Amino acid sequence: MTDLFAKYDVPAPRYTSYPTVPFWTDSPTTEQWLDELNKAFDDEAATWSLYFHLPFCESLCTFCACNTVITRDHRREEGYVDRLSTEWNLYLDRVPGLRKRSLLGLHLGGGTPTFFAAENLERILRPIIENTRVDADRFEASVEVHPGHTTREQLVTLHHLGFTRISIGVQDFDPEVQRLVNRHQPYEVTKSITDIARELGYMSVNYDLIYGLPRQIPGGFAKTVEKTIELRPDRIALYSFARVPWIKPAQRSYKDEDIPVAGEKRALYELARELLEAAGYSEIGMDHFALPHDGIARAQREGTLHRNFQGYTETRTNVLLGLGVSAISETPTCFHQNEKAFPVYERRVREGEIPTFRGHLLTEEDRRLREQILTFMTRFEVELRLEQAEDARAFLDSMFDDQLVEVRDGKLFLTERGRPFLRNACMFFDQRLRQQEQRPRVFSQAL
Ligand SMILES: C[S@@+](CC[C@H](N)C(=O)[O-])C[C@H]1O[C@@H](n2cnc3c(N)ncnc32)[C@H](O)[C@@H]1O
Ligand code: SF4
Repeated sequence: MTDLFAKYDVPAPRYTSYPTVPFWTDSPTTEQWLDELNKAFDDEAATWSLYFHLPFCESLCTFCACNTVITRDHRREEGYVDRLSTEWNLYLDRVPGLRKRSLLGLHLGGGTPTFFAAENLERILRPIIENTRVDADRFEASVEVHPGHTTREQLVTLHHLGFTRISIGVQDFDPEVQRLVNRHQPYEVTKSITDIARELGYMSVNYDLIYGLPRQIPGGFAKTVEKTIELRPDRIALYSFARVPWIKPAQRSYKDEDIPVAGEKRALYELARELLEAAGYSEIGMDHFALPHDGIARAQREGTLHRNFQGYTETRTNVLLGLGVSAISETPTCFHQNEKAFPVYERRVREGEIPTFRGHLLTEEDRRLREQILTFMTRFEVELRLEQAEDARAFLDSMFDDQLVEVRDGKLFLTERGRPFLRNACMFFDQRLRQQEQRPRVFSQAL
């Protein structure tokens, strides 16, 4: 297998959307975006979910590829809360469906949402709970936290507002790895926040781990996984370190020789997989694990697993509305992203504008391919259209030879051996990438 890891370790999208963001071409104006959003809500049965991007962090973890604003100045919270409330009101005025259609999901991501004081989190969330139709039976609210910057008071406030899921950033418990990535986080701190969340009644605890970080070695990483198993999160996201130093210069601080190469990196994943499976977790999709009772494990068993900008999820809604700097929204026909530059986002919202940065109006063909990619990413098999079968054989030629994919009864399958190469196989459906002669240097390595 080692040869295969070297052979297929090429830049590849993670396919949290199709078309992937660098290939968005047909950008809507804000008015077109609002039309698409209203069109998605025409259907009385339409459901939606809401994402807030809260970008602040007190210090920079040098591996981080998220859109963040690093500051210790907590006076900045107030202004940002005002911006979010203005943005929300702009949408409420123009999109009646937000009041009428069922809200199924609410997610706070970042950055570090728990940078915000409890009362500011409440100020962000109250107007949402008060102005929307929350479907109490199906509603799920979740928050991403850095355990070193999270208090009991924040978790109490969020729980009162209906939050039952928490995602805790761990990355790696090894102090040497933590030192290299500038993230000091003792085990006890992670344990304490996990215990508090459980005691308060949070029903699902997720841990984020990353494999492929500098100086991660099998012995040390095994300990990280063992400590994780001890604390027994319901769900684990085991992310492949996305190294994109041309976008995130802090990642240049690592020495090349400290970074595990493709085969070594995959070995870290396989090691974690063995330990986690032996402890009762199942592998979900490409980079997640869950205990059998967890919703995402159930969704995989029942064939309802979904994937969106936040990764694998069990709830699929017609609309995902993203608020805050750089937030991405999605309807069946359109993608939309807010301004990524913080001062521009602030200025435009202050001036009463929906801060459209870019987006994409999907063609019929985009929509068909998006469904195929989604099915393949969640089920590892998908029906091919007649004209695709021959093209698949040609495009995935070497993956067929290496027994990573196969075609049977008009379906493309990823074999068990092919599981690490899911992103590579998905590129077959990515007509926008395939048509590009010169590929932009944007994607991290596939493995
Ligand atoms: C918004 S952060 C989570 C919340 C909080 N800020 C924290 O760090 O604990 C989202 C997650 O993205 C993952 N992540 C960030 N940069 C990454 C990268 N370059 N490669 C892989 N995963 C990354 C980390 O696992 C991180 O926990
Ligand atoms: S990993 Fe989390 S805390 Fe660290 S810089 Fe990224 S968003 Fe901030």
